[in-house]
Amino acid sequence: MLEDYPKKITLQDGAVLSLRPMSKDDQYPLYRFFVSLPEADRKYLRNDVTDRKLLEKWVRNLNYDKVLPILVETDDRIVANATLNRQTFGWGRHVGEVRITIDADFQRRGLGSLLLDEITNLAAKAQLKKLVARIVTTRPEVIKAFEKAGFSQLTVLKNYVKDVYQQSYADIAILVKDLA
Ligand SMILES: CC(C)(COP(=O)(O)OP(=O)(O)OC[C@H]1O[C@@H](n2cnc3c(N)ncnc32)[C@H](O)[C@@H]1OP(=O)(O)O)[C@@H](O)C(=O)NCCC(=O)NCCS
Repeated sequence: MLEDYPKKITLQDGAVLSLRPMSKDDQYPLYRFFVSLPEADRKYLRNDVTDRKLLEKWVRNLNYDKVLPILVETDDRIVANATLNRQTFGWGRHVGEVRITIDADFQRRGLGSLLLDEITNLAAKAQLKKLVARIVTTRPEVIKAFEKAGFSQLTVLKNYVKDVYQQSYADIAILVKDLA
């Protein structure tokens, strides 16, 4: 499934980027990527991605069967992270969850669409039947990016999550894509 990596991709504007799964050496480059994100892009991610202990744990416990993180790099830095999260037992075994974060300089250049296709292909190869994404409703442009990639909004969970500062509640849209 991962034999195609590392691989090059070319954006519509000609920028060439490299894709590969995260490795144990990525803790500090990944930290640099996450702290460089605008607060609005970090505030309602599932975890506080600027927590060094959390990143250390991610790297230490790398298990592609549970969480497959695909990193996108330019020559000198990480510019995006897309993960396919899986439950390896129980009634959700056929479902994968997708999460994507992209450096502000690389948004609106088609990279999000490309990564959603990439994760869709990886999920299909892993015999998954559905992909789910959970997105705060205050980011309609993010929801739009997922809908453009074939996700449909099923429902909204009201006041379901708190921001990383544990200060305010937000509604979460549940988006699902059925895989062939
Ligand atoms: C959401 C995200 C992944 C989209 O990636 P992207 O590379 O910017 O998206 P693309 O350039 O491929 O655009 C895909 C579509 O999304 C929509 N879209 C994306 N950003 C938009 C914006 N700022 N305003 C309006 N529409 C937008 C458009 O419909 C766009 O298609 P179009 O360019 O043909 O109009 C990226 O913006 C991001 O990382 N956001 C911050 C982190 C986040 O919230 N992640 C989601 C958690 S799962």
